[in-house]
Amino acid sequence: MSDYAYDNQTVKGFIVSSIFWGVVGILIGLWISIQFWKPEWNIPPFFTYGRLRVVHTNGLAFGLGVGAIFGIFYYITMRLTRRPLLFPKLARVHLYLFNIVIALAAVSLFAGMTQALEYAELEWPLDIGVVILWVIFAVNIFGTIIKRKEEQMYVSLWYIMATVIAVAVLYIVNNLSIPAGPFKSYHLYAGVNSANVQWWYGHNAVGFIFTTPILAMFYYFLPKATGLPIYSHRLSIIAFWSLIFAYLWTGAHHLVYTPLPDWIQTLAIVFTLFLIAPSWGSVVNGYYTVGGDWEKMRTNYLTKFFILGITFYGLQTVQGPTQGLRTVSQLIHYTDWVIGHVHMGTMGWVTMTTAASIYYVIPKIYNTEIYSVKVADTHFWLVLIGQLIFSITMWIAGIQQGVLWKAVNPDGSLKYTFMEVLVKNYPFWQMRTLGGVIFTIGMLFFIYNIYRTIRKGKALAATA
Ligand code: HEM
Ligand code: HEM
Repeated sequence: MSDYAYDNQTVKGFIVSSIFWGVVGILIGLWISIQFWKPEWNIPPFFTYGRLRVVHTNGLAFGLGVGAIFGIFYYITMRLTRRPLLFPKLARVHLYLFNIVIALAAVSLFAGMTQALEYAELEWPLDIGVVILWVIFAVNIFGTIIKRKEEQMYVSLWYIMATVIAVAVLYIVNNLSIPAGPFKSYHLYAGVNSANVQWWYGHNAVGFIFTTPILAMFYYFLPKATGLPIYSHRLSIIAFWSLIFAYLWTGAHHLVYTPLPDWIQTLAIVFTLFLIAPSWGSVVNGYYTVGGDWEKMRTNYLTKFFILGITFYGLQTVQGPTQGLRTVSQLIHYTDWVIGHVHMGTMGWVTMTTAASIYYVIPKIYNTEIYSVKVADTHFWLVLIGQLIFSITMWIAGIQQGVLWKAVNPDGSLKYTFMEVLVKNYPFWQMRTLGGVIFTIGMLFFIYNIYRTIRKGKALAATA
């Protein structure tokens, strides 16, 4: 099939845009990690921690994450339905609009415009832009699937459809707000209801941006990259439906020990524990797929990205349900432990799997081989080491914070002042920056490799 028929241009555009926004997000991540131990790196008014942190989270979740989701979902959907996109021109408009919305989002966040809802900071005019983007995406994805030439629907398509539907519902419900000016609005819900809706959204934003789309990529690219068929289709489908069923009930585990009614917290905790099962369904499926040929970990450079990626997902999905328990939450909530959890998932599972998918896609659409497997291996080891330093130091720092904050004297007064605990965190925060620097260097190797692969592909095409 020709380049145009498969609309590889839009896929390329999204991948390059996602890498660009990823670089912005990661560099800002490094910057805010330094601000923790060098407060003079706060430069008011635009470059203070409060402004930069939201650019970091939005840049990576929506710029890197959603950008890669758009591009790679288009790629996968066309191949699994065995037909071009239903509306290729619309997909091109989608690409331009995506970059405009993300750029405006960054500018508005630097300017301090925010709804003060985590991962839903954007003010209402931009929310409308996001909804338009998503509708365009949904029309193309569902249209293409409905008109598919392949009757069978592989599990990745189910994850793709779930992502498109769930993100739309979550985003719209949590962003219902009352405009109070051209750039200001207030959440439609008040008090504890606001918190409940916000964390129903917040947790599922993680679920449907950092989990289901990445599983769609994992299930599609692992067999492609290794040449090994997925171990069990039945298990993949059972895990899919039980994951989707359970996820949407768990948001209130972010609100343990809050004024939210106790029964809602307990309901969320029960579903949270249940989530181990479908999550590990995919982990086991991944391991057994490669299980017949572990030699691939050595001989096929992509296998180790996918297997380490799913391993971090596996660890994450044991740690997550544990964190939901009241006994654990009372110690680790509000501490750096959670930041360790977040970054094992984002730097381990999400970025490793997405990078491996991009390593697979770019040479395919440029009709060439990857520029250098050695560079890819260096990238792998650097991001692995950087991520482990980051996560492990944050877990230790988190437990230390929890224990010291809760320590009391016999008369009930606090044993340590806030400043005493703060000072003890400095070495951990410095280590986190070190982990971040190593991770960033790893990502630079990745970008270099992709850049050289594209150039190689273009040079080959020019001489063909
Ligand atoms: C079975 C799966 C998972 C469960 C049950 C789970 C559970 C939790 C819980 C209970 C918290 C709140 C901790 C606290 O503040 O006390 C949390 C935070 C978080 N988790 Fe997970 N987790 C899971 C998987 C993942 C995955 C795969 C990612 C992907 C990167 C992830 C990313 C996050 C993020 C970003 C937060 C921080 C949210 C915030 O406070 O801003 N989680 N998780
Ligand atoms: C060089 C790599 C990175 C560094 C140095 C870094 C640093 C940080 C820092 C310092 C925070 C704030 C922690 C706090 O509030 O106490 C943070 C939060 C966060 N980062 Fe990163 N980060 C990096 C990579 C990433 C990546 C690749 C992603 C996503 C793909 C990501 C997603 C997030 C999220 C979702 C939060 C919010 C967590 C929460 O509210 O609980 N980060 N990061």
